[in-house]
Amino acid sequence: MGRSSTPRAAGTEGVAVDPAVRVGSVSLSNAVMTASGTSGHGDELGRYLDLGALGAVVVKSMMAEPWPGNPAPRLAPVPAGMLNSVGLQGDGIGHWLDRELPDLRAAGATVVASIWGRHVQDYERAAGALQGADPAVVAVEVNLSCPNLDGGKHLFAHDPRAAAEVVEACGAAGLPRWAKLSANTDRVVEVAASVAEAGAEAVTLVNTLLGMVIDPDRAAPVLGSGPAGGGLSGPAIHPVAVRTVFDVHAALPGLPIVGVGGIVDARGAVEMIMAGADAVQVGTASFAEPRTADMVRTGLEHWCSTHGVRAVAELKGCAHG
Ligand code: FUM
Repeated sequence: MGRSSTPRAAGTEGVAVDPAVRVGSVSLSNAVMTASGTSGHGDELGRYLDLGALGAVVVKSMMAEPWPGNPAPRLAPVPAGMLNSVGLQGDGIGHWLDRELPDLRAAGATVVASIWGRHVQDYERAAGALQGADPAVVAVEVNLSCPNLDGGKHLFAHDPRAAAEVVEACGAAGLPRWAKLSANTDRVVEVAASVAEAGAEAVTLVNTLLGMVIDPDRAAPVLGSGPAGGGLSGPAIHPVAVRTVFDVHAALPGLPIVGVGGIVDARGAVEMIMAGADAVQVGTASFAEPRTADMVRTGLEHWCSTHGVRAVAELKGCAHG
């Protein structure tokens, strides 16, 4: 089967499947990664699954310096997902390089370092701190889209020029750059084109959606961030994420995409790849079942095998006809 051809109906006879994919210049053993913010900064998930078996572990976004995050409570379950207002808590990149990256390396993980900042200079410092990092770090994911800073009012990912400026500054890492974007804007295609022009090898689509939960008994927002609300993730946002990947792939077919948002099983991953993603990330589902990313990995290969798809990469963009 060549690229963009239609998989056959599921059969009992499986074919051998090549799970390897590429995201720009980065080769991954398979298409399934953890999503930033859902598996800690280190090897926290390692007691549940073999981190080395995943395509990559994408660690929670870090700044160069320590950052305290937002007041509790920071999580609120909702039907089909959850809201978070963690606020990017972390101990800083120096701590990570010394104390947490070695554990990931010992676990055999391929690592993507996610970074954030409030200003372009913050990103530049964070990227610079990653220069020369252990070769287990294969890419930097530039988080331009966290909804939990300044109430989500000034997201770099909502402005093509500001997003490009950040991505350019992150060249200081000397690593392939993936720009993590937002579906809270109708300009996502424009932003994707702009960050690609600025040097991003890929875009990660999408971060959480701006949301709020109110406790009717207190007549007040549930999350500690109060009027700033939080970010909605989980199955509730899956169709939004698939649509965003579809639209960006249709407009920019040469731009590698990492799809993320509400994937809970192999079919969700297949959908995302058929929409145009090269690889996927699994996040919120890991809070309920920490082995989900690995289950999606094995399930994706099984799905391909039983549908006559000899390489996961062949599924990319199938849904575009
Ligand atoms: O608040 C947080 O730490 C979430 C980050 C993100 O969604 O990028």
